[in-house]
Amino acid sequence: MTVAAIVPAAGRGARFGGPENKIWVDIGGRPLIQWTLRALETHPGIDSLVIVGAPDELDRLRDAAAAPAKPTRIVAGGATRAESVLRGLESLDAGVQTVLVHDAARPAVPPDLIDRVLAGVRSHGAAIPGMPCTDTAKVCDPQGRVEATLDRSRIALVQTPQGCRRDLLERAYRVAGAAANGTTDEASLLERADIPVHVVAGDAANVKVTLLADLAAVRRALIGRGSGEVRTGLGYDVHRLASGRELWLGGVRIEHDQGLEGHSDADVVVHAVCDALLGAAGLGDIGLLFPPGDPAHRNRRSTEFLAEIGPRLRAAGWLVTNIDAAVLAEAPRLAPHRTAMAEAMAQALELEAKRISIKATTSEGLGPVGRREGIGCWAVATLQRAEEQ
Ligand code: CTP
Ligand code: MG
Repeated sequence: MTVAAIVPAAGRGARFGGPENKIWVDIGGRPLIQWTLRALETHPGIDSLVIVGAPDELDRLRDAAAAPAKPTRIVAGGATRAESVLRGLESLDAGVQTVLVHDAARPAVPPDLIDRVLAGVRSHGAAIPGMPCTDTAKVCDPQGRVEATLDRSRIALVQTPQGCRRDLLERAYRVAGAAANGTTDEASLLERADIPVHVVAGDAANVKVTLLADLAAVRRALIGRGSGEVRTGLGYDVHRLASGRELWLGGVRIEHDQGLEGHSDADVVVHAVCDALLGAAGLGDIGLLFPPGDPAHRNRRSTEFLAEIGPRLRAAGWLVTNIDAAVLAEAPRLAPHRTAMAEAMAQALELEAKRISIKATTSEGLGPVGRREGIGCWAVATLQRAEEQ
């Protein structure tokens, strides 16, 4: 099934009380909305995204979604959440069969929760994540007087993504008509149209940032730096120099009369960094993930490997604290390229460039690197647990 995620982001965040839409609040150096988008676009079950933004924030959203990993469309939303979701629904390509509607304001959605919703849609047509209600639940009148006590064992406090076959959600909107505007989730619309909705297990980490006080939980879930385990990994690579090849180091093309031989672009710096990262996370090594014999990886830019490793680390609960690399090369002089290398690798990893350091040294004419037969690189990476698991 072809799955599109619709991300309503066109609210104003009135209850949050900030100076602007809460989707722009900073979490670990990135706006909240970027965390949400990354969580969705790195999920293998999602094929494309539609971000529904406030009409005056579309350009800013376009910047925030720069270089998305999946096809991403940005459309203008409406006055209510339901109307915004409808705008997203109307913009979908004909081939989309399943929609996941996910609040922009839930940046910490775990990948396995998305898996459960998708599995629920596959089996039941519509599925939403729900949390058990652990407090006793009362219905009150507007003056705060208790009218009734609910059976909490039958209550689910529901989250997003709410998943649904596209045709069912479209039907639900038709049935509801203007009444759709009073609803705050897709399941309410489906209920009105007598379409059964299945509840799968939600996750306490999948907090919706509604009030300022919700930020702490989301920050803890996403960047709990210092609260978790720290690990270090080591990587090493060396490639032979040859004529007629381009020289790529640290994701940067460097002018030189020779380049490195190899199956991909033979970027030893990126390869050593990949191995350091994978080693620290216990996720194997670059040869295991991108087998050199696999024609799919022929002549690939090695920074693409890094760009695939980033989401794998995040999915496994790791944040990159820093990377330090030492390049062994007799020539060319690499000092002028250090910043560009750090920036290129940081971009591939979606990391701040200041977390990557590159140093270079010659071998004083000693050994194969000293004889200019090849270029080598050592790298260490330090990771921190993003959340307690
Ligand atoms: N949303 C939307 N269009 C609207 C209203 C809300 O796309 N007209 C989005 C919000 O941006 C948010 C999600 O729907 O990602 C859930 O809504 P909510 O948490 O209520 O966000 P806001 O409406 O922004 O907040 P508030 O109700 O406090 O103003
Ligand atoms: Mg709202």
